[in-house]
Amino acid sequence: MKTYLVTGGAGFIGSNFIIYMLNKYDDVKIINVDALTYAGNLENLKSVENNPNYKFVQADIRDREAIQKIFDENTVDYVVNFAAESHVDRSISDPDIFVQTNVLGTVNLLNIAKAAWSTGDDTYRDGVKFHQVSTDEVYGSLGETGFFMETTPLCPHSPYSSSKAASDMFVKAYHDTYKLPINITRCSNNYGPYQFPEKLIPLIMNNTLLHKDLPVYGDGMQVRDWLYVDDHCKAIDMVIRDGVDGEVYNVGGHNERPNIFIVKTIIQYIKENVDETVGEHMIKYVADRKGHDRRYGIDPQKIKDALGWYPETCFEVGIKKTLKWYLDNQDWVKNVTSGEYQKYYEKMYKDK
Ligand code: NAD
Ligand code: DAU
Repeated sequence: MKTYLVTGGAGFIGSNFIIYMLNKYDDVKIINVDALTYAGNLENLKSVENNPNYKFVQADIRDREAIQKIFDENTVDYVVNFAAESHVDRSISDPDIFVQTNVLGTVNLLNIAKAAWSTGDDTYRDGVKFHQVSTDEVYGSLGETGFFMETTPLCPHSPYSSSKAASDMFVKAYHDTYKLPINITRCSNNYGPYQFPEKLIPLIMNNTLLHKDLPVYGDGMQVRDWLYVDDHCKAIDMVIRDGVDGEVYNVGGHNERPNIFIVKTIIQYIKENVDETVGEHMIKYVADRKGHDRRYGIDPQKIKDALGWYPETCFEVGIKKTLKWYLDNQDWVKNVTSGEYQKYYEKMYKDK
């Protein structure tokens, strides 16, 4: 039985990862450590909350005592660090919390894991590993051709991606300096169930259903490389099990789409399945995001060759599955878009 300390497990990808792991394996124990910020939601974990191999602890990854206590009370084998402030727009209006959580929080976890796993000078208990869940945004932006490889120099532009690049560098530093066993995965844009509706796909879906304007930044021709969330979870699982110590693995499915294509796909889906009065007239081109990265594209050859990973869900299937999930889970959407979300939306979009 291996014990995974999963941080940020009440967020979008973290909760999908926990569900994926507990459905797949009987011999893993998961301790979900989440501060339950606006982005964390225990509703996501209803299907596993009574699983004897699952435990939730509400704690902040910056809180030394709280994290230490978890290590004192459990034999943790892996740390899987999802916890982060994850939204680029929020990082532009309020960068400080991104440094706090993404950089200082990660360093706190590294310090505690390193001490707990230590068996001597730069030696550690067998089989332990710190897995950092990172992003393609640390590489910056691409022109019309080429892909991000693991060897591409880091060149982040937003406060969010800068904080993620900084935390990646600390994880690497703990490997290079103290020989702490680590891996880093850098994944492209995820989509799927439980994504908070500040992100493009669930935001456009929700606005279309509510007959609100559909805000498209700039010319809408920015390109993102979309991956169904379970394929990201599968990659993380494979890297934790078989990844070579110290290595970075890029994760992506060669599924690049301009934003305007995504928006039109969602409108079409709702038009065909829910409400024939919606249409492209609802699209509103608004002021561009500051420093907006033009194109992301991952080269996933390393994880394919080294570990045999491949994406199982193609975009055409994944997007329909995702949009259907949002339609079938309108109570979840209503819960997360009440209260604070309305204030956020007003503030973020009023001048656009
Ligand atoms: P999310 O915003 O949906 O969830 C983040 C979770 O972290 C929430 O549950 C929140 O409560 C928790 N959290 C925030 N601050 C915390 C703190 N100080 N202590 C403990 N918990 C805290 O994010 P997501 O989209 O699920 O992303 C998860 C991770 O994956 C992030 O590290 C992100 O950088 C990375 N990532 C995301 C994507 C994507 O497309 N969403 C792609 C690649 C990598
Ligand atoms: O690439 C991985 C990253 O993907 C992750 O590291 C981040 O955590 C995650 O938030 C995501 O970042 P993006 O900025 O790419 O995602 P977002 O959904 O915010 O935006 C996707 C694209 O859509 C981006 O080019 C901006 C654009 N956009 C977004 C919103 C919210 C719009 O045009 N209108 C909008 O209202």
